[in-house]
Amino acid sequence: MRADDFSYHILEYPFPDDFVAWYPYTKSERMGEHDRWRQWLVRVVEEGVPGVRDQMIAARDVESGDWVGVVWNSVAPTCPEIAHFGWFYVEDRCRGAGVGGRVIETCLSNLSADGAKAVMLPTQLENERAIGMYYRRGWHLSITDPNGAVWMVREPADYYEYYFTPEGREPIRAGEPEPADFVALDYLLSRPYAPVRLLPLELVGNRRFVSFVHDWDSATHVVARQEDRPLAVGAAVETEEGSLCDVFGVDRRAMAVAMRALVEIVPRPYADIAAHDTMRRGALEDAGMRYLSAQVVELAGAQINMARYIPV
Ligand SMILES: CC(C)(COP(=O)(O)OP(=O)(O)OC[C@H]1O[C@@H](n2cnc3c(N)ncnc32)[C@H](O)[C@@H]1OP(=O)(O)O)[C@@H](O)C(=O)NCCC(=O)NCCS
Repeated sequence: MRADDFSYHILEYPFPDDFVAWYPYTKSERMGEHDRWRQWLVRVVEEGVPGVRDQMIAARDVESGDWVGVVWNSVAPTCPEIAHFGWFYVEDRCRGAGVGGRVIETCLSNLSADGAKAVMLPTQLENERAIGMYYRRGWHLSITDPNGAVWMVREPADYYEYYFTPEGREPIRAGEPEPADFVALDYLLSRPYAPVRLLPLELVGNRRFVSFVHDWDSATHVVARQEDRPLAVGAAVETEEGSLCDVFGVDRRAMAVAMRALVEIVPRPYADIAAHDTMRRGALEDAGMRYLSAQVVELAGAQINMARYIPV
């Protein structure tokens, strides 16, 4: 069996019926406890998800016509430079023949022809074979969770900073998150600093992959964007003390825009910021907040000095 015994296809919604019937990641027995993701994949293959273009790069046995391998990718039309990639699978009987490699390479050349520069994917650290395949094709690990979930990104050097830095003095506006923002926001949150920063807001682990579920109900979110490009995300969750707010981005001006809009819409807003985080503290001050008090919190066994901010 060789990779050439198979044909490779780029499928989009509406997906062929025999592909939908075969697609492995909508099967309850395979997805086990990940039913939320399974339901989202059912939406992808059966209904189509608004705001993004989901594609399946699939391999088919030329002789029998059976589907045998697949990988998914997703791109928002407003930021075609960034793509999600994942749910990679090859039928047991066809593994090791180069089909998976050909599926990845078909996907990458198709994305690159469409203008994608950064391609990100989630996987598990234990999945050595897949991680090795990704490494050899240019991905690097960007986040590793203690539970073994990892996030890998394939991108040009310095692209992350470039993408999330606003252009000139063009206006940055705040608004509600939209489906087309989600791929870029996942890229924004693909850095180790982001999950630590947004930890109290539960935007960590599986919840970080916001575009997978389009679920923003557990917190109030504000996105700062320049034209269509998301630059910063602010989030607030209700606590006994009020609305705990935080913001993530690489640019102080964009973060301030998101934070200013957020504190206007949530009741009793406050923020706890690591005392040494001068950029974020500056963004909060630019957003009209003021330093209230210092406190020490324990995080993963470390004592961290925090500065509390409230609106002026
Ligand atoms: C991961 C998977 C899709 C790969 O498909 P495949 O058709 O077997 O892949 P290929 O034959 O093209 O390539 C196998 C790769 O594993 C490498 N490999 C082979 N034997 C290996 C071993 N014992 N240990 C580690 N790597 C091995 C090969 O060198 C090759 O990598 P390369 O193309 O970079 O040289 C398939 O194994 C699968 O479906 N696994 C279960 C689902 C899964 O884990 N998905 C990934 C989730 S992120």
